[in-house]
Amino acid sequence: MQPATLHDPIRLLIYGAGGRMGRAVIDLLPQFPGLRAEAAVSSSHPDLPSDVAVFSADQMAAAPPFDVAIDFSLHSAFDLLLAECLRRGAALVSGTTGLSLAQKAAMDAASGRIALLWSSNFSPGVAVLSRLVEVAAAALPDWDCEILDLHHRNKRDAPSGTAISLAEAAARGRGDGARWVSRHGVESARGADEIGIASLRGGDVIGEHSVVLLGPHERIELSHRAHDRSVFAYGALVAAQRLAGRPPGQYRLGDLLMSG
Ligand SMILES: NC(=O)c1ccc[n+]([C@@H]2O[C@H](COP(=O)([O-])OP(=O)(O)OC[C@H]3O[C@@H](n4cnc5c(N)ncnc54)[C@H](OP(=O)(O)O)[C@@H]3O)[C@@H](O)[C@H]2O)c1
Repeated sequence: MQPATLHDPIRLLIYGAGGRMGRAVIDLLPQFPGLRAEAAVSSSHPDLPSDVAVFSADQMAAAPPFDVAIDFSLHSAFDLLLAECLRRGAALVSGTTGLSLAQKAAMDAASGRIALLWSSNFSPGVAVLSRLVEVAAAALPDWDCEILDLHHRNKRDAPSGTAISLAEAAARGRGDGARWVSRHGVESARGADEIGIASLRGGDVIGEHSVVLLGPHERIELSHRAHDRSVFAYGALVAAQRLAGRPPGQYRLGDLLMSG
């Protein structure tokens, strides 16, 4: 069940609080007086304000009431959190990537009961990039589209969730059922309906994406570079603020960020 009244401040559960993104969310929280971290789920006991109760994932049922969970964890940890949000009627903002098709289907089903927003990239700049890619691909449906993602050496999934989302935006724009592919090991020329994704991993790069549209004798390159993890944390906190108290459904980041 959805909570009947909106708490002030909105109560958050931070899931994966000790990870790179969990810590970025916690660091930015003081800039959001309308939000309060009520509890954190972490096995690594990060530095948290003393009034935030910390639980391990298997003790999460004992956490105090929360209105919205913010999740930056691992795909293997996602099901437990979704089940807990459903049990409590709490909203969920998730940025965890590498989710399986079954996990995405479970999210679709859950959105009939809770307010839910999953995004592969919470940066406001990437939300706009995605729209630009859709518009460019719609205007140039016969051009080839290729995508490059570059991330730090510890990122576990490839291609990045953002690269896949950008390919989906291009496919929506083209309207021809194009699909994303990895060209590794393929020994034939590219098909017209393919959107190639290549991934580079190394160093401490936070996240860079380039979408290249290639036509005869010219090309367009649309790129985004994140300089700091705080851009994702900012988008997730704004999303949590705007998702709290909404009716069940699956929400889109671009719509929430641009809803004022
Ligand atoms: N959507 C976006 O804008 C965006 C941006 C950046 C990253 N991401 C994605 O967010 C996720 C986290 O990224 P990151 O760089 O923060 O990774 P990370 O530093 O490896 O942190 C992941 C955290 O997940 C938690 N975790 C791991 N196994 C768990 C389990 N079984 N149960 C509960 N929690 C568990 C751990 O938290 P504790 O240490 O607290 O136990 C771990 O530190 C990845 O999927 C990444 O691709 C998304």
